[in-house]
Amino acid sequence: MKLCSIHDVSEGSSLGIDVEGETTMFVVKKDDNLYIYKNSCPHLGVQLEWQENQFLDMDGVLIQCSTHGALFEIEDGKCISGPCQGDSLTPVPFEIRGDDVYLI
Ligand code: FES
Repeated sequence: MKLCSIHDVSEGSSLGIDVEGETTMFVVKKDDNLYIYKNSCPHLGVQLEWQENQFLDMDGVLIQCSTHGALFEIEDGKCISGPCQGDSLTPVPFEIRGDDVYLI
């Protein structure tokens, strides 16, 4: 299944991916690498974004849950601050073919 194009998300920002009308995953681009996680906070299982496509903190350096403010590292999804500290976001396995990103 195609998730998005590598050009859909710009450097230092995030993009929600909708599957059947629900934003079930999101992509972050950092240092030209893509990271994809399930859109589910390990604290309560709720969606993370503040607004559509907004999954990062104000500085754009960490993923932030909008419900209680947990902060996660972009590279490995690990929660470094907040009520689920030590837990991690669930990575989504993907591969890039040409300019497109596919679920594995
Ligand atoms: S639901 Fe995400 S920090 Fe509480």
